[in-house]
Amino acid sequence: MRVGVLFGGDSEERDVSIASATQVVHALRSRGHDVLLVDTARGAVSAASEPVALTATVPDMPPSRDSLDQLQATISKVTVASAVLGTDVVFLALHGGSGENGQFQALLELTGVPFTGSGSLGSGLAMDKDISKRLFTAAGIATPAWAIWDSKHRDQAQAIGYPLIVKPNSQGSTIGLSLVRSPVELAAALEMASRYGEVLLEQFIAGRELTVGVLDGIALAVGEVMLDPDSAFTYQQKYQAGAVQEVFPAQVSDEIAAEAQRLSLVAHASLKLDGYSRSDFRLDSQGTLWLIEVNTLPGLTATSLLPQSAAAIGIDYGTLIERICGLAIEKAAGRVP
Ligand SMILES: Nc1ncnc2c1ncn2[C@@H]1O[C@H](COP(=O)(O)OP(=O)(O)O)[C@@H](O)[C@H]1O
Ligand SMILES: [Mg+2]
Repeated sequence: MRVGVLFGGDSEERDVSIASATQVVHALRSRGHDVLLVDTARGAVSAASEPVALTATVPDMPPSRDSLDQLQATISKVTVASAVLGTDVVFLALHGGSGENGQFQALLELTGVPFTGSGSLGSGLAMDKDISKRLFTAAGIATPAWAIWDSKHRDQAQAIGYPLIVKPNSQGSTIGLSLVRSPVELAAALEMASRYGEVLLEQFIAGRELTVGVLDGIALAVGEVMLDPDSAFTYQQKYQAGAVQEVFPAQVSDEIAAEAQRLSLVAHASLKLDGYSRSDFRLDSQGTLWLIEVNTLPGLTATSLLPQSAAAIGIDYGTLIERICGLAIEKAAGRVP
């Protein structure tokens, strides 16, 4: 196959995307596929510049907004979409921003080239945490109490209660998120989250952090991120090798594992997703599973959570990447899942 790999881009998750793409490209080539590599912020990457463009490690901190703004103007997104015309499938190794929120998906839908993951509608729904949570609730899935911050309603935080989570409504990688333990910390948390648009206030669920991948209508293995139950999973913990232990399969009862898997499939369907996704939960001390979010373009290095969730049921990384491409081609050909 000739695969157009879109990566990089101008979202805060640019560096994470570069790490995903580095391993996706390697896996595709080692299975005999041709790769056309395109940075959605910089354009096509030549063979000579590939060693500089791709790197498997993620720096400690996300790139600054200034550096991303400088990239933003360099190339038109339409030029990027036209660069991948004529490939058999486009692999979205993008995270966050226009790569994950449905905008690139809409552009690709108009070109007619098959692309991996969910369509524009599902991507848009999943990227908006407020809308997602309304759909989870309608589907009978427990999700922490929440409100979109409105400066005219100053009692919102009291109504949710402390501790609470303040986070951007449409970000990823824990960027802009704070665990707020008392009212004095609220203003700074709101200021930080509001740099990324609408802000969500959410009940903090102390407990264990569980995650489940979905691939082709099947729930993969349940995993656990071994965090202090009174904390949130940070950017550094997500991307620095060995910063936190991740256990697949999670050491939970068969009932909890089956319920997490069931909920991940219901959540995937509730947002009208395709191909693959990863649902993140908190498990509280009463045994209740709370859905935090569904990721439509979760991290895809070989040691990322979704690939671990697949590996734990015997789907190796190369097979996973190839399967994700196959699903995109089947969807474009009209296969009903
Ligand atoms: N309501 C919550 N209760 C407990 N922990 C939370 C809550 N919301 C977020 N977190 C913690 O913060 C992490 C990132 O939050 P999440 O909503 O998944 O945002 P992102 O899209 O940035 O990954 C979660 O993995 C979890 O550890
Ligand atoms: Mg998350």
